[in-house]
Amino acid sequence: MRKEIISTTLALIASLGSFAQDAIISVYPEQGKYKIDKEIYGQFAEHLGTCIYGGLWVGTESGIPNINGYRKDVFEALKRLQVPVLRWPGGCFADDYHWTDGIGPKSQRPSLRNNNWGGTIEDNSFGTHEFLNLCEMLGCEPYVTGNVGSGTVKEMAQWIEYMTSDGDTPMAKLRRQNGREKAWHVKYFGIGNEAWGCGGNMRPEYYSDLYRRYTTYLRDYSNNTLFKIASGASAGDVNWTQVLMDRIGNGMQGISLHYYYVRDWNHKGSATRFSDEEYYQTLGSCAYMDTLISKHEAVMDKFDPQKKIALMVDEWGTWWDEEPGSVPGHLYQQNSLRDAIVAAMTLNTFHKHTDRVRMANIAQLVNVLQSMILTDTKGTGHMVLTPNYYVFEMYKDFQDAINLPVQTQCTMLHDTDNRQIPQISASMARKQQGGYVLALVNTSLSKDVETELRLGSIAPKQLSGRILTAPRINDFNDFSHPETVKPAEFRNIRNAKTKKNTVRVKIPAKSIVVLDIK
Ligand code: AHR
Repeated sequence: MRKEIISTTLALIASLGSFAQDAIISVYPEQGKYKIDKEIYGQFAEHLGTCIYGGLWVGTESGIPNINGYRKDVFEALKRLQVPVLRWPGGCFADDYHWTDGIGPKSQRPSLRNNNWGGTIEDNSFGTHEFLNLCEMLGCEPYVTGNVGSGTVKEMAQWIEYMTSDGDTPMAKLRRQNGREKAWHVKYFGIGNEAWGCGGNMRPEYYSDLYRRYTTYLRDYSNNTLFKIASGASAGDVNWTQVLMDRIGNGMQGISLHYYYVRDWNHKGSATRFSDEEYYQTLGSCAYMDTLISKHEAVMDKFDPQKKIALMVDEWGTWWDEEPGSVPGHLYQQNSLRDAIVAAMTLNTFHKHTDRVRMANIAQLVNVLQSMILTDTKGTGHMVLTPNYYVFEMYKDFQDAINLPVQTQCTMLHDTDNRQIPQISASMARKQQGGYVLALVNTSLSKDVETELRLGSIAPKQLSGRILTAPRINDFNDFSHPETVKPAEFRNIRNAKTKKNTVRVKIPAKSIVVLDIK
C-alpha cells in the first residue's frame, strides 16, 4: 500500500476547486512505519585533493587553529551537522591504500604517489588512528573501505583485528604500541570499492567469489559486529546487483550503489555558469534517482523479499568541471543553489525508499565534488559553508524519524530528454522527539507555487519554518561572500492559511522550505 501511494506523483488536476492552489500534498500519517535511518545523512571523505589534507586535517604544527591536528572550524561545523556516519579512505583510493603505511610514528610513515588523484604525494600522516579518533570526536559511525583491488586477504583481516580486537592478539598489541589501548568500534566495512572499475576492473561473478573469500577471514572481535558491504553497481547496472544477490546473498548485509548526476562525462559543465536548460537536465538526472533505486530494489526483492539486505547509496552527487585554476585531478568545485536543490530532492527520494535504502554518502565532505564545506588551504585559512551544508542542517530532524507517505499533485516539468521533474518535491516525517518535519522543494526557476498541505489526522497547532533560496540559481558562497546562500526564517508561514488539518503556503521558485509542525 505504502509503495502505491508514495510512488504516485500525479499530474496537476486541471481544476483544484475554488482555491488557487498549484499543488496539493496529501500526507498519510497512519501509514508511516519505516524509520529514515540517520545513516542516509552519511558523508564521505577520501584521500583526494584537499578533502583530508587542508580540509579535515592540517596537523598539529599548522598555523590554522586545530584540535590535535583536525581543523577546528571544520570540526565544529561538522559537529553541528550531526554527521551520523563517515566513509573513508575512498573511493578509488581505497583499493590503492595499504593501511600499515598510515600507522606508527609519522616520521616513519612512507610518502607515496596518489595514483588516482593527480599524482599528489600522500605522506600518510592521516591514517587509521586519525580517522577513527575523528569519528569518536564527532560521535559518528566509521565506515571503512578495505582494499580488494591491490590488497590481500591477510592485510584486510589484520586491519580488522588491529581496529577492533581487545584481546592479546598480535595486531591489538601493535595498536597498543602505537598509543591506542582500547579497540575502536567499527561497524560498517566495505569489501572494496567500484570493483567493476578502479577497484580491479572485475566482472560481478569474479568479484562475488572474491567477496566470499575475503569475508571468510573478517572476524568479529570482542564486542564488535561487522556490517559487511559489497561493492555494488554503477548507476543502472542491475546485472551487477542481480549477480551479487544470487552469488553472495546473505553473506552481505549491504550492497552499494554509486550514481553521480552527470549527463555527459566528457562535458560535465561549469558549477556556476550554466543555462536554465542545463539546470533542468541536472534535475532530470536527479529525479531519475527514484527510478534507479526502484530498479535495483526490484532485483533485490526477488532474492530478499524481507528486505534484510540494505541498499547503500554510498556515493552520490553532482560532479562539475573542476574550478578553473585548481589542481587537475583534485575535483575541487563550487556549489551553488542548484546543488542545494539537488541535495534536497535526493534526500526526499531516499526517505521514500527508506525500507531498503539504509545508508547514503554524499560525495564528498570537504573541497571535493558536492561538498558541505570549502576551505582555503593556503593563505587565510578561511572556511565557507556551501548551500549543501545548509540543506543537511535544515533536514537534521529527518534523521531516525518515521517517514510518512505523501502523495504529490503538481505540475510536471521536463528536461530536454523529456524526463519528468515534479515542480514540488515533498517529504514528511514524525520526529523522534515528537512533532513533524516537512520538506518542500520548488524546482521551478520562475514560478512560485501555492501549495495545499492535507495533513490527514494531523491537526497542526504551531508552524514555523526556514527557507533556503537566493536571487539567482547559480549563486554560491565563497571566502569573500560567505553568506550569499544561507537559510532564513520562512516568513510566508505567517500568511499560511490553516483550516483544521489543511495548511496553505506559497513556496517561492527555486527554494527549499523545511517546516516544523507541532
Ligand atoms: O568520489 C570520487 C570518485 O568517484 C571515487 O573515488 C570513486 O569511487 C568514484 O568513481
